[in-house]
Amino acid sequence: MAPADDDALDRAARLLRPAKRVAVLTGAGISAESGLATFRGAGGLWEGQRVEDVATPRAFERDPALVWRFYNLRRANLATVAPNPGHLALVALEQRLGPGFTLVTQNVDGLHQAAGSRNVLEIHGGLRRVRCVVCERVTDRGIEPLADLPRCEKCDGMLRPDVVWFEEALPEDVWQRAVDAVQTCDCFLVVGTSAIVYPAAGLIDVARMEGADVIEANLQPSAASSRVDVLLLGPSGTMLPELIKKLE
Ligand code: OAD
Repeated sequence: MAPADDDALDRAARLLRPAKRVAVLTGAGISAESGLATFRGAGGLWEGQRVEDVATPRAFERDPALVWRFYNLRRANLATVAPNPGHLALVALEQRLGPGFTLVTQNVDGLHQAAGSRNVLEIHGGLRRVRCVVCERVTDRGIEPLADLPRCEKCDGMLRPDVVWFEEALPEDVWQRAVDAVQTCDCFLVVGTSAIVYPAAGLIDVARMEGADVIEANLQPSAASSRVDVLLLGPSGTMLPELIKKLE
């Protein structure tokens, strides 16, 4: 590792070590080393597929089978992936902090929970769950393949993935808990997100406004990098374990 990287890790550790309350925001980048594609950039999910065709309420009204094929593929992908050292480092951080730790994730892949993280707020929903568009009942269907047009077992209404699409509001209760955690944290760690999708990216401004130290880990500078205290430039599967090691 280059000396500059080590210096950034030292500075990040100095901010993180005394923090009693830590909030973390993760994006698709933390799961990249598990083998899941991120959204933007070369090879990203949105490169081969227009957002408007598969991830908006209108897309689902127009062609629910197409939307379900997209999400069934993503669900099937989950069978082939496992948490990586980045996810595990956040489990170690939670063990260190106990109830002072909150993990806010934009990811729908469930890898934080699979790794062992407990206080996880899925602000964009979860791929394993489905929701009835009529009775709103939410059920966990694991990663079993679903029909192209699955129906609710209770009311026979159409089922949709329990994820947040563009133009939709975030789940209110989960979002409020995320804002509370970020407002009250001493240190905010932002990992593997391009930080361009709001309101999630706005949590960085909330943390700064409330005076928290902000550390970012990303393979490359993001839209947030100019307003963080320390940028750890590199893969999160390396940077996060290194950072945790420095806390000891
Ligand atoms: P993006 O695809 O926009 O950004 C992924 C980020 O991860 C980029 O900044 C990469 O540089 C970084 N990255 C890639 N590999 C990495 C690695 N090994 N270690 C660290 N960083 C790495 O994904 P998100 O920011 O998560 O929303 O996207 C935000 C939201 O937009 C998603 O939740 C989804 C999407 O459209 C909805 O579907 C509602």
